[in-house]
Amino acid sequence: MLTAKNIVKNYAVDGKVVPVLKGVSLSIAEGEFVSVVGRSGSGKTTLLHVLATLIQPDGGELHFGDHDLRRLPEKKLNILRQADFSVIFQFHHLLPYLTVLENSLLSCMHRMKPVPKEAVERAYHCLGRVGLADKADRLPGNLSGGEQQRVAIARALVKSSKVIFADEPTGSLDKATGEQIMELLAGLHQDGMSLVMVTHEPEYAKLSERTVVIEDGMTKR
Ligand SMILES: Nc1ncnc2c1ncn2[C@@H]1O[C@H](COP(=O)(O)OP(=O)(O)O)[C@@H](O)[C@H]1O
Ligand SMILES: [Mg+2]
Repeated sequence: MLTAKNIVKNYAVDGKVVPVLKGVSLSIAEGEFVSVVGRSGSGKTTLLHVLATLIQPDGGELHFGDHDLRRLPEKKLNILRQADFSVIFQFHHLLPYLTVLENSLLSCMHRMKPVPKEAVERAYHCLGRVGLADKADRLPGNLSGGEQQRVAIARALVKSSKVIFADEPTGSLDKATGEQIMELLAGLHQDGMSLVMVTHEPEYAKLSERTVVIEDGMTKR
């Protein structure tokens, strides 16, 4: 469903070109759970951001179904990303001035239009699933790290995204909380969503169907 071929990504540091991804190829089937491991600085986050279309690669191909993501006009890409992709970051990316409910509904909010009642009901249902129904009116600043990650998961549930990209989603959490988050993520996969997860934890990588190792800007074979 999502296919990356020979992805190249360089960063410019002090006027010098630093290659980070040197031709990474990877494909994720519909409903598949893939983990990405590798040393710190090996390019895992960069790869995840390229796959999620948050950054543009410098070379290679990226397809999602029939869509050539590198050639899709920005507007169409925004719509596709909004509809089908969800990203869960190591440190939550919630909007601090919106409540838990509003953060979970972010993809349903369009300018000044009211959010449909069904979407709000759905959001409450999804917050219930991640155990946050009673905290719907709180602001993210009043939540624990694990709870903030659960809001990000609820957001993916509300959208019923096709692909979830998670970048060390348990990285900033204690072990017990990390395990809860992993259970929720595994649940999304059981619901049929594709899951691409960067992780440092071998025991979490084992939960995936396939592990991809990034080393020296390449996938290790
Ligand atoms: N925006 C950036 N500008 C310059 N260098 C970057 C940038 N982002 C990441 N890097 C560098 O690219 C390499 C890979 O980073 P990253 O993808 O974050 O690795 P990982 O997630 O595996 O730790 C690192 O050496 C990092 O310092
Ligand atoms: Mg990283």
